[in-house]
Amino acid sequence: MARPKIALIGAGQIGGTLAHLAALKELGDVVLFDIAEGIPEGKALDIAESGPSAKFDAAMSGTQDYADIAGADVCIVTAGVARKPGMSRDDLLGINLKVMKSVGEGIAQHAPDAFVICITNPLDAMVWALREFSGLPHEKVCGMAGVLDSARFRHFLASEFDVSMKDVTAFVLGGHGDTMVPLVRYSTVAGIPLPDLVKMGWTTQEKLDAIVQRTRDGGAEIVGLLKTGSAFYAPATSAIEMAESYLKDQKRVLPCAAYVDGAYGLDGFYVGVPTVIGAGGVERVVEISMNKDEQSMFDSSVEAVKGLVQACKGIDDSLK
Ligand code: APR
Repeated sequence: MARPKIALIGAGQIGGTLAHLAALKELGDVVLFDIAEGIPEGKALDIAESGPSAKFDAAMSGTQDYADIAGADVCIVTAGVARKPGMSRDDLLGINLKVMKSVGEGIAQHAPDAFVICITNPLDAMVWALREFSGLPHEKVCGMAGVLDSARFRHFLASEFDVSMKDVTAFVLGGHGDTMVPLVRYSTVAGIPLPDLVKMGWTTQEKLDAIVQRTRDGGAEIVGLLKTGSAFYAPATSAIEMAESYLKDQKRVLPCAAYVDGAYGLDGFYVGVPTVIGAGGVERVVEISMNKDEQSMFDSSVEAVKGLVQACKGIDDSLK
């Protein structure tokens, strides 16, 4: 049987890391697409040349031609611009919306059966726009945010408790922005919810609140350190986790920006929720019960995303 084909639209920092990880994990053959000439070809060749030492057989190629993504099983989209210090994800909206239009059309024409994972920011609005421009089924288009935000939360918690991050689970819902909702009640160490760990004296409420805030600011913290771009190792690893769940029909329960129609009181809207990702794409949206505070944080996050979607409609008439 032929290896799966993975198309990476955007061969920048995240795109290159995605290609490397996909190769190391032998998830499939990789095509890197970018408008920048030479970059995707150079990265593909460099990674291919690591194959004999790393011992993978996946084929790697780079292109500026959408025809080369034909028949891709998975498309991961990072095309666009990344933020610089002082910029919010929302500042990228105007530029990246135009990029989503060309990417959506390219995928629709050449890889309409692919499972599409969008990473380009502002994430929730861009995944919505990409779905609109591509016309693909909603369950085949989603956005990577929750896995990354939860991973950051898990990392900070594992450091605070001095335990393996393997035993830390965490939930982050809502939009991928300042209004994201880290759900403390549903986050655990070996099944023990965080509020119980506070009672057990493992940490204090103040420290936990600081970790929640650091999680919300996780992307900005990296931007502030790098100064020339935004995070790429953790975002790429998170998207690969989602792609693997689709390609291997693992049915992992992963938070992602998914189309929610009915659950959470939403009627047809992209926002970060727990999902099941398997061979059917986003196979299920998991609806958890929220208390009053959580619900109100989730509602304001949804409102923030709605504002961005409205802004997209204001910029591109075809989205109305
Ligand atoms: N089509 C294809 N590729 C494009 C297009 C386009 N229309 N416009 C820009 N690109 C390419 C750029 O040439 C560049 O190689 O997208 C790539 C983006 O790479 P980086 O600038 O290195 O950005 P990266 O760190 O990979 O982040 C990409 O993901 O997390 C988000 O906020 C981040 O929106 C940003 C995106």
